[in-house]
Amino acid sequence: MTDTTSFDLIVIGAGPGGYVAAIRAAQLGMKVAVVEKRAQLGGVCLNEGCIPSKALLDSSELFALARDKFSLHGIVIEPPHLDLATMMRRKDEVVRKLTDGIAYLFKKNEIQSVQGSARLNGINPAGLHEVLVTVPETSHTAEWQQDLLAGQTSTVILSGRRVLLAPGSEATELPGIPFDGQVIVNARDALCFDQVPDHLIIAGAGYIGLEMGSIWRRLGAQVTVLEMLPQVLPTMDRQAADTLYRSLRKQGIQFKLETRITGVRRIGAKAIVQFNAGTGSEEIDCDRVLVAVGRRPLTAGLGLGEMAIKLDEKGRVVVDGDYQTNIPGIYAIGDLITGPMLAHKAMEEGVVCAERMAGQKSVVEYEYIPGVVYTWPEGAAVGNTEEQLKEAGIQYKVGRFNFAALGRARCMDETEGFVKILAHGDTDRILGIHIVGPRASDMVAEAVAVMSFGGTARDISLTCHAHPTLSEAMKEAALDVHKEAIHV
Ligand code: NAI
Repeated sequence: MTDTTSFDLIVIGAGPGGYVAAIRAAQLGMKVAVVEKRAQLGGVCLNEGCIPSKALLDSSELFALARDKFSLHGIVIEPPHLDLATMMRRKDEVVRKLTDGIAYLFKKNEIQSVQGSARLNGINPAGLHEVLVTVPETSHTAEWQQDLLAGQTSTVILSGRRVLLAPGSEATELPGIPFDGQVIVNARDALCFDQVPDHLIIAGAGYIGLEMGSIWRRLGAQVTVLEMLPQVLPTMDRQAADTLYRSLRKQGIQFKLETRITGVRRIGAKAIVQFNAGTGSEEIDCDRVLVAVGRRPLTAGLGLGEMAIKLDEKGRVVVDGDYQTNIPGIYAIGDLITGPMLAHKAMEEGVVCAERMAGQKSVVEYEYIPGVVYTWPEGAAVGNTEEQLKEAGIQYKVGRFNFAALGRARCMDETEGFVKILAHGDTDRILGIHIVGPRASDMVAEAVAVMSFGGTARDISLTCHAHPTLSEAMKEAALDVHKEAIHV
């Protein structure tokens, strides 16, 4: 009989980092188990983050197009009305299909999926790491797990040569203002509102704040974003962030920058938000407050302290180049370790970590991880911002091309934004590409590919781009680095 409790690799967490690492490890011949506390696989990204938010962004964009833009194209319809319940059901169905897809991939790759909360449990006499899994009573346990649990308590001990920690992160609360799931909410709750808020206040003009603000604004809510810094999207290239800021304001989202929330008072189903914008204490009332001021690594309950696993000053697990912690055989990736909290960064680390366990010398190219904010227009970037180059004293040239001058963008009536290329002053090597515009999220792939191969602005400008496409803006921006753009 096969041993169902002993593995080459036990992965804790079935988010994008964990599930991808598990599949790659299984492809490389390892016997793998994945422990996940949720009933569905896919982690925050699939269940309550990237995927449901993009499903709602796409639905709300269609709604706003039908309401605001169809008439421009000569399509005359009755003003559309919103059926929020159907929109939410569609989102849930998208999530269900994708999470079921991971379960299928696990089966195909013979990965054992264990539902429960995992905790490191030390090293057993055979020198293997133990993982104690507490199985929820309501869990619909897999067949093998039922056999294992028959006549036992609701815990299982798995053992493995290696353990990979990929538990992800959780939303940070504002100090002294806890989430209540009703009025003071996080992004997960804001993806499930059963009606459009009259007035949604959002703390934080980062990725989540602007994406969730876009969804609910398009569906008709008044949206006010309070941001403590003087600009939105503080890590983005300033020119790109300012362009997005202007566009979102035009769409009716209100912003209060350099503003700190000092308190939230709940009054029944409403709330009064107290804030300070530098001129004394002020208040606004609303019916929902979304707190989107960042996320923190989810380290609680994993037994990291008992195992003396080293954390940094921000509570992230410290790893070496193999993603191994200070305890041999225990690894960590994704939001638990340093770097941007992005699903695709965690996926890259999952693959590389599994390959390095198998003796390969793969690496994650951290300089070329793109960032995308899925507003409309979208913002996407890879590499350095202009501000970073200035601060580092690096000589650079700038090429820029506005979508307003592009045929395809005109046909789409999507003329806001630009492609901006920053190239080294001497070598012409591309140091950063920043895009604000329609489908920037897809266009950034070219930027990542060229930069990963050490490409120059000349490399892009010598490449034929299909006409008429949005991608021509990339070629024109590259030509503009040498002041040779044709359509300016
Ligand atoms: P974030 O770090 O992107 O933005 C947080 C914003 O809140 C910042 O602008 C910050 O200055 C502001 N802030 C912090 N404390 C504040 C306070 N007390 N009052 C007012 N403003 C305050 O964090 P966010 O949006 O919560 O996202 C969390 C993580 O999830 C990020 O790491 C992000 O990269 C990731 N994410 C990525 C997405 C994407 O790739 N499209 C989408 C959603 C999330």
